[in-house]
Amino acid sequence: MNSKRHPAEPFRIKSIESITLLSEQERVKKLKKANYNLFKIDAEDIYIDLLTDSGTTALSNKQWAAIMLGDESYAGAKSFKRFERAVQDVFRHRYVIPTHQGRSAENIMFSTIVKPGQYVLNNTHFDTTKGNTLHKGGIPLDFPCKESKDSSDFAFKGNMDILALEEAILKYGADKVAMVIMTITNNSVGGLPVSIENIREVSELCKQHKLLFYFDCARFAENAFFIKRYEPEFADSTIAEITAEMFELCDGAMMSAKKDGMSNIGGFITLNDKELLEQLTELMIIVEGFPTYGGLTGRDLDSLAVGFYEAMEEEYLEYRIGQVNYLGEKLKEIGMPIVEPTGGHAIFIDAGALLPHIPVDEFPGQSLAAAFYVEGGVRAVEIGSLMFGENDTKTGKFIPAPRELVRLAIPRRVYTASHIDYLVDVAKKIVEKKDSLCGYKITKQPKFLRHFTCDLEQLCSEKVNSEK
Ligand code: F0G
Repeated sequence: MNSKRHPAEPFRIKSIESITLLSEQERVKKLKKANYNLFKIDAEDIYIDLLTDSGTTALSNKQWAAIMLGDESYAGAKSFKRFERAVQDVFRHRYVIPTHQGRSAENIMFSTIVKPGQYVLNNTHFDTTKGNTLHKGGIPLDFPCKESKDSSDFAFKGNMDILALEEAILKYGADKVAMVIMTITNNSVGGLPVSIENIREVSELCKQHKLLFYFDCARFAENAFFIKRYEPEFADSTIAEITAEMFELCDGAMMSAKKDGMSNIGGFITLNDKELLEQLTELMIIVEGFPTYGGLTGRDLDSLAVGFYEAMEEEYLEYRIGQVNYLGEKLKEIGMPIVEPTGGHAIFIDAGALLPHIPVDEFPGQSLAAAFYVEGGVRAVEIGSLMFGENDTKTGKFIPAPRELVRLAIPRRVYTASHIDYLVDVAKKIVEKKDSLCGYKITKQPKFLRHFTCDLEQLCSEKVNSEK
């Protein structure tokens, strides 16, 4: 047996959904028709969909049973009571505002808290937190730890750079900082975890400067699992105990519960501050719904109330983190450079290193993501200069993202070990023809979050071919 093999799936399959692999010719046609933007390809034309682990979870039989208990009353539904009890129990804060997903929690929070010109400090903003901060006139700044950029096997590369954070607070002044956020796990640097030690330091610093400290906790259970594995103090703790320890260190949290809520929709804000609760609730009623459903159905709330606990089951987490790691090890074996160590929900391929002949302003990550679709009907997402690059407003000069990554996000409880082996076969074909892949240019883009809707054109590839 391969020593890197992860524990077999700790579940059996009760209901299936067919998937189809189109011919290569058809895939090329579909990609062109989508203007080379993988978000614009129909899901039925995808074979393995790794665009996101968000909302793509397979529900358990217990969740389906809970869904049947959903109480769809407008106000005071039993479903909300069950959801509220679960959130209070797992996340330790007094109040909870349900929202339909993470970004609506961000919208409500930042609309209330961020004044134009104020800073939001984060280990690394995810694209919607960055977009939402900018949208309210705030300035999002990232402080990923130094190790996040090196090739060491440091386990907690999701950490905040504490010194840089403190410097920024002193430089701008605490009154110019709207809030400090810790994204757990840190999605944009590779789904990598944050240690309790680091959370304690940030928490301490925020207390000293009287700053609001929140989590963006979409993948809290995966983060807690890494803490158990790599922080000796917690080797014998349960995931629930570690989660409690984490959340007692912050003032509140925003969650996209479409990840470790093990459900297809949902989110929340938690907090202990009653005054802030009242302010947030005023806005949430205008934009999201009554406080006991927040844009969700009763059955969604029930699915979440079960899901938070299922996400913390250790057998499941061993298998999940193992599956992601197995894919990473196999990709390395065939010559795909990846971000290491591997994280919780995805493998991040270093497209910049794989495709050095494509300049950053021609989006090597997009080129690799497109190749995954053409070669195997696999949908991945670029997390590089297409998502985060921008033109300097004064000079017009292109400022690239820190890295040109492609993310293969693994939906929870959806794909089997043989799907993962199929992915490795596709990746192998790409590695063999990597020098012939070419860059892209944007032909149309919106003001915010351009990667979702922009159109692209292939820059084929006289340069590459004539140089050969
Ligand atoms: N915060 C983090 C860390 C996220 O990863 C996401 C979503 C959000 C906030 C926003 O939540 O989608 O429910 O509105 N991430 C998804 C992803 C989209 O693919 O990583 P949302």
